[in-house]
Amino acid sequence: MSRSTLSAILVLAAVSKFAFAQPDPADPTPLVDKTYAYPSGIPYQVDYNTAAIRGPQVGYNICNSTTENQESMCQTSMVNHIDDFCLWAPPIPNSTIGDTEQEEVAWCTKPGHGTRLIPNGVLQGVQVLVTSAYIQIAGFIDQTQVNMAADDYGGELDPHGADLRGNPLGGLMYSNAFPSNGGNNNTYQQVIDWTNFMGGNAFCMTICDPASSSDDQAAYCQNIYDRMGCSYNMPNNAQNGTFEVCDADLKTPAGLYVTNGVTSTYSQPASGAVDPPYTAVVPASSNCVTYNSAALYSAIATVTPTGSTVSASATGTGSVKASTGTGSSGTASPTSTGGAVALGVSSVAAIAGTAFAMIFLS
Ligand SMILES: *[C@@H]1O[C@H](CO)[C@@H](O)[C@H](O)[C@H]1NC(C)=O
Ligand SMILES: *[C@@H]1O[C@H](CO)[C@@H](O)[C@H](O)[C@H]1NC(C)=O
Ligand SMILES: *[C@@H]1O[C@H](CO)[C@@H](O)[C@H](O)[C@H]1NC(C)=O
Ligand SMILES: *[C@@H]1O[C@H](CO)[C@@H](O)[C@H](O)[C@H]1NC(C)=O
Repeated sequence: MSRSTLSAILVLAAVSKFAFAQPDPADPTPLVDKTYAYPSGIPYQVDYNTAAIRGPQVGYNICNSTTENQESMCQTSMVNHIDDFCLWAPPIPNSTIGDTEQEEVAWCTKPGHGTRLIPNGVLQGVQVLVTSAYIQIAGFIDQTQVNMAADDYGGELDPHGADLRGNPLGGLMYSNAFPSNGGNNNTYQQVIDWTNFMGGNAFCMTICDPASSSDDQAAYCQNIYDRMGCSYNMPNNAQNGTFEVCDADLKTPAGLYVTNGVTSTYSQPASGAVDPPYTAVVPASSNCVTYNSAALYSAIATVTPTGSTVSASATGTGSVKASTGTGSSGTASPTSTGGAVALGVSSVAAIAGTAFAMIFLS
């Protein structure tokens, strides 16, 4: 996409989803309040009301060996360890996150979760930062192999959204990785708050410890800086070609910064250029362990991109639809940003590698 095309698209719409956030009367329970024990408590779909403005979720939440294939519409995700996590990505090839945020499905690094598998070679560098309140994973991907358009700068997936039903709708997240899970890898906790940016051949994901305070979960899994990308929301030192897990200090929550001892809050403008008066700092890390990617991802070594499309019957609820403005409050249109900012961010990514960020259409 040319710069002018990109700028034009970005200027098209300028609705802040949060200014309008309100429950859908047909499904008023916010996704973050829908909690289910894994796996026995999970319903086939957590978001099934056909009267809901954005429609029911396109996939399902009961995922098993039957649903484990490259056309899976599983929308129950898992983030456990550097060798065992899932990303949200589109069900049909050559999609943008902005157009398909409500229908993303889980793509995982390991079989066993009833999902699609991330094809071999897609993950090109991954850094996991383990902290006392959250786990952050950031890295580089070949996004075309998980159905994203090559030039998509992407957007943010999280369990909120203008109608509080989440993007993707009905998307659930589980983990065995928090100390509050008791060190048992065979049981899983529901992750209540999480956020995942996808785009610009990069990703970043934070899952907040469900045992931490609700204030901490809100702060560290903040979802309102959705146009500002990984380097702002999840500062990291991911390097292309390196696969590592580190302990890390807590980040300063997105939006907060300290000048002369005074803490201030930056607000992402509803439209136009994003202009934070500071650069987010990567928190100190220690005890980094690096891994060989072939060993980490041996289970997906034979998974090749299929380029296949999803059949309507795979969803159980009708075909995967392009969500080009389905009319819910504030979500119909991508938010806009200054093209210069996005392009600036993009060139930073090219230079610094780790400072990647995206334009955030979610
Ligand atoms: C497997 O998952 C599918 C899709 O959610 C569901 O219809 C089916 O009942 C599940 N099978 C078992 C044995 O749980
Ligand atoms: C992806 O979609 C764009 C816009 O619809 C189109 O121009 C492009 O050729 C497509 N790319 C592939 C690989 O299908
Ligand atoms: C759980 O999994 C982690 C990550 O793979 C591993 O380091 C740890 O040893 C496992 N714990 C147990 C009790 O097996
Ligand atoms: C990461 O490295 C691979 C292999 O050298 C390269 O093909 C890819 O473009 C790089 N990705 C990014 C985002 O720089």
